[in-house]
Amino acid sequence: MIETNEVMKTYETLSGRITALDQANISIKDGEFVLIVGRSGSGKSTLLSILGGLTRPSSGKVMLNGKDLWAMNDEDLSEVRGSELGFVFQFPGLLPTLNTLENVMLPTMFCSKVEEDPSERATILLQTVGLGDKLDSFPNQLSGGELKRAAIARSLMNNPSIILADEPTGDLDVNTEKEIMDMFCRINKLGKTVVMVTHNQDLACFASRVLSMERGIVSEEEGQKCERI
Ligand SMILES: Nc1ncnc2c1ncn2[C@@H]1O[C@H](COP(=O)(O)OP(=O)(O)OP(=O)(O)O)[C@@H](O)[C@H]1O
Ligand SMILES: [Mg+2]
Repeated sequence: MIETNEVMKTYETLSGRITALDQANISIKDGEFVLIVGRSGSGKSTLLSILGGLTRPSSGKVMLNGKDLWAMNDEDLSEVRGSELGFVFQFPGLLPTLNTLENVMLPTMFCSKVEEDPSERATILLQTVGLGDKLDSFPNQLSGGELKRAAIARSLMNNPSIILADEPTGDLDVNTEKEIMDMFCRINKLGKTVVMVTHNQDLACFASRVLSMERGIVSEEEGQKCERI
């Protein structure tokens, strides 16, 4: 469960104050697939990053699975990030000197849950996203879609209850986009909460709920219920 109460984020810039997030009050229940849609610059990544404990809000409260995220010390916050959240970033950000398998295993370094054989789990996850033949490949040997799929496998490594994904299908062809969205639907059906950010309104049919963002303001979009799930 994720709940925000009057969350604001402002940035002071040379040209003045920017309100990237304006008094957001949202509530996301366990098992939901929430899509956050909005134009470039509307504040989507800012919101996701605050929900994920990566960017501190200027004011307001974020409750994640009953914990007041921004009242925690750095150590507890990083434990929550490592064990309860999986991130798929706007740019996949795989480490260039590690192969795909090692990249997918990386989150175990930030989590106290001990996995008996992380390489076995990472291998299964990579097979699930269709990269079973790319375990030894390095990021520069993967296509854009493959990098995104590896990033999805990495986000699942610590078996988090919530997946936060920022434009995971950006720059992909329509078929690969659908493949990746189907992958998120499957992840969601396994019981994980998925919160995904996109500028692509057409993806609304994959989600159970759609929030829209405009100039930092989040609002509920009606009539977007998915008939597929
Ligand atoms: N570190 C920062 N300093 C100053 N302004 C920032 C900073 N980060 C974001 N912003 C501004 O906050 C606003 C929201 O940015 P954000 O990255 O959340 O948008 P977005 O909806 O994710 O856009 P996109 O679809 O292009 O990724 C923008 O006006 C952006 O310029
Ligand atoms: Mg963004």
